[in-house]
Amino acid sequence: MDVKKFIEAQVEEIKETVGNNKAISALSGGVDSSVATLLAHRALGNRLQTIFIDHGLMREREPEEVKTAFARLGIDLKIIDARNEFFQALKGKTDPEDKRKAFRQAFYKVFGREVLRSKARYLIQGTIAADIIETRGGVKTQHNILEQIGIDPEKGFGFKIIEPLKELFKHEVREVGKVLGLPEMIFKRMPFPGPALATRIIGEVTPERVELVRKATRIVEEELAPLQPFQAFAVLMNDMGTGVEAGKRKFGHIIIIRSVESQDAMTAQPTPVPWDVLTRLASRMTIEIPEVVRVAYEITPKPPATIEYI
Ligand code: XMP
Repeated sequence: MDVKKFIEAQVEEIKETVGNNKAISALSGGVDSSVATLLAHRALGNRLQTIFIDHGLMREREPEEVKTAFARLGIDLKIIDARNEFFQALKGKTDPEDKRKAFRQAFYKVFGREVLRSKARYLIQGTIAADIIETRGGVKTQHNILEQIGIDPEKGFGFKIIEPLKELFKHEVREVGKVLGLPEMIFKRMPFPGPALATRIIGEVTPERVELVRKATRIVEEELAPLQPFQAFAVLMNDMGTGVEAGKRKFGHIIIIRSVESQDAMTAQPTPVPWDVLTRLASRMTIEIPEVVRVAYEITPKPPATIEYI
């Protein structure tokens, strides 16, 4: 791929499509939406409004960190606090697809409101080829796929969608980000799914359960950072397990650690994490999050497992 030509062509296409109208960019701070936002900003300047939804399912300090990183790039970000709305939408849902669809509905409802408010007509998002292939293929409903499965965003939510990266895979998106001047800490970032920590909670997504998996995620990211895995995270199981503390039974949570190597997220292999790192993870997890009594390392490749747990 000729990255420079790709950038020029996409910038032109966004300009042409949006014309004199306004657009909104859906930014999560991940690689894909960051690159899509930069392309759109280059094409539209201040006719682009960049929005970050704080749905309460992000990693620690993520909203502030993304705001600061984009301010440095000259892009002002509007943060929308939609935490209650998302938790309400996910309440009582335990089926993975129900959770994904509830997230998608809440996600586009928020953008529908913003598009109306700012009189924009287009939503720019960082959908990539793998998202489309997996949703169409029936693996899982990715949060950002509508038109490709027959949902008209204009009818349902009141805007048209522009997806400049829809033909690229992750490693190509990173190359585009690099040439666009995205800081390395963003274009080299681990992939993080749109539905965020909701994909790493088996069973109901509640604020308390998100808080637990958020702490566990930080520990995994800190300990595995030197290995530079493609993607690494913690998952909260639904069942509890028995442990022991000071000679007494202690019933607590089970955390699974998942770390994989991959190029395009279509297939993946478990990272060969050294034993001392694994044992340190178990120890930190149970000491820093006392509600956790068991920690396991997941060793399944994709396929047959997927990368995320829901
Ligand atoms: P799976 O779990 O299908 O994940 O093996 C493949 C890659 O896609 C990410 N992923 C998502 N990304 N919206 C996204 O933007 C989603 O709904 C979604 N589900 C999974 C996942 O993190 C992995 O990198």
